[in-house]
Amino acid sequence: MAPKRETKRRNSPLRSRAPAAAGRRPSQRGHVRAHPDGAKPKKKSIGCQLKSRKGERIPAVLCSTPITSRARNGAMLDQTAIMDLSVRKRAEKTLRAKKSELEAIINRTPFMLTRCSYDLRYRFVSRAYARMLGRTPEEIAGEPIVEIMGEAGLKTISPHIEKVLKGHTVEFETEVPYRGVGAPCVQCVYTPDRDSKGKVIGWFASISDITRRKLAEAALQKSKKLLGKRVRERTHELHVANRELEGEIAQRKGLEGEILEISDREQQRLGQELHDGLCQHLTAVAFMARSTALRLKNHRVIEVSDIEKIAELVNDAATDTRNLSRALHRVDIDSAGFSTALQDLVDREIWKTPCRLEIKPPLHIDDDAVASHLYRIAREAVINANKHAQAREIVVALARSGKGTVLSVTDNGIGLPSTVSSPRGLGFHIMKYRARAIGGRLEIERPKKGGTRVACYLPNKALQSQKRENNPAQAVSCENPKALAALI
Ligand SMILES: Nc1ncnc2c1ncn2[C@@H]1O[C@H](COP(=O)(O)OP(=O)(O)OP(=O)(O)O)[C@@H](O)[C@H]1O
Ligand SMILES: [Mg+2]
Repeated sequence: MAPKRETKRRNSPLRSRAPAAAGRRPSQRGHVRAHPDGAKPKKKSIGCQLKSRKGERIPAVLCSTPITSRARNGAMLDQTAIMDLSVRKRAEKTLRAKKSELEAIINRTPFMLTRCSYDLRYRFVSRAYARMLGRTPEEIAGEPIVEIMGEAGLKTISPHIEKVLKGHTVEFETEVPYRGVGAPCVQCVYTPDRDSKGKVIGWFASISDITRRKLAEAALQKSKKLLGKRVRERTHELHVANRELEGEIAQRKGLEGEILEISDREQQRLGQELHDGLCQHLTAVAFMARSTALRLKNHRVIEVSDIEKIAELVNDAATDTRNLSRALHRVDIDSAGFSTALQDLVDREIWKTPCRLEIKPPLHIDDDAVASHLYRIAREAVINANKHAQAREIVVALARSGKGTVLSVTDNGIGLPSTVSSPRGLGFHIMKYRARAIGGRLEIERPKKGGTRVACYLPNKALQSQKRENNPAQAVSCENPKALAALI
């Protein structure tokens, strides 16, 4: 420890120990003497370190002031004081720590801070603010705002400056053009800077760069709009698809009803044909056989021609029955047998109008369901041409173009009646239904040179999708096999 006397006086300015009298009461015992040349006596201060008995180091300052002693006849004396600086040093250290903490808060955070004066100059700018402008804080502090920001930037913030200088706190978000930097979108809070009397002497500005957030918000907004648009489009598509589906369901229901009706009708027709054709035929054969038998019984003679007539009638009955059974027989067509089936169709003897097949270039249908539907379309069209057209020729053609495959049946007959709405006819309905079922479309045309052309257009993609999936066409074709069989 230091000497006792010194220890007692640590927290108060310490005085020098020699000379004791002058040291104790300098103001009473002497006064600061002017130098003979009139110059003010020089006061000296020296910083030093004292050491306590425990070995602690005590910062101190030693001040020495020259005085003339009245007691000693104006002798020159040095009045010396030792001041303990521990408290002051500690306070300074705390202050320095606070200052560097404050600096860290201001400079290490991403928030931009400025302090500006009433005359529109920067007094202080944080490192983040200076960094945004590509400068150092020292380059900016003290400069007029207009020099740093440029006219356009200052013009943008002027209305807010006016308000803050009137003593209001201002908050705003805007794009501020900075000279040489661009126009970041910033969020600012301006707070008035007042002197001790409350007079506004400038303002503090806390600034955040929200450009990224704004861009993200704009992108989000755009995505929302796009999403909304997509949802609307999709909803519309779904509505349309739903309507189409409802239409399809209604049509199928109608078609099923019609199929049942035609099935009844066909049974009726079959019964009629058996009754009017085969039964009458057989009745005639029975009559002839009975009359021949009677003649044989009564006259013991029979005409050969009678027996031949009976044989002829029996043969006719057999032919009729064969035709009827052929009409009833449901031919299962697959892709492999498609061309042959078409050829058989046109070669049938039952047609009253000559019929021929054109396949150019030779092509092949890969899908069984497609082949089956196309065959039945062709057959109905050929039957129609035979039934209604009064034509001299019927041509069944199968051709492939860049877009797809076309099956057509063309006749040179009387052409379609102006209204083809035969309430009892189902052929066109079913042909259209079959075409749709395989992803194609049916067109019934009136060629310029006369007659009728029934064409089923099948796009390539329909053929591919039929191949890919277990398509509804097959399901449809199997839905009512008996009813469909009755139709064909
Ligand atoms: N090739 C054709 N030439 C002239 N008219 C035709 C031809 N094909 C069809 N038609 C007319 O169109 C109508 C409708 O034909 P559709 O095949 O739908 O019925 P249908 O043949 O009368 O009866 P179903 O086919 O049910 O036995 C026919 O009644 C006929 O008047
Ligand atoms: Mg028909």
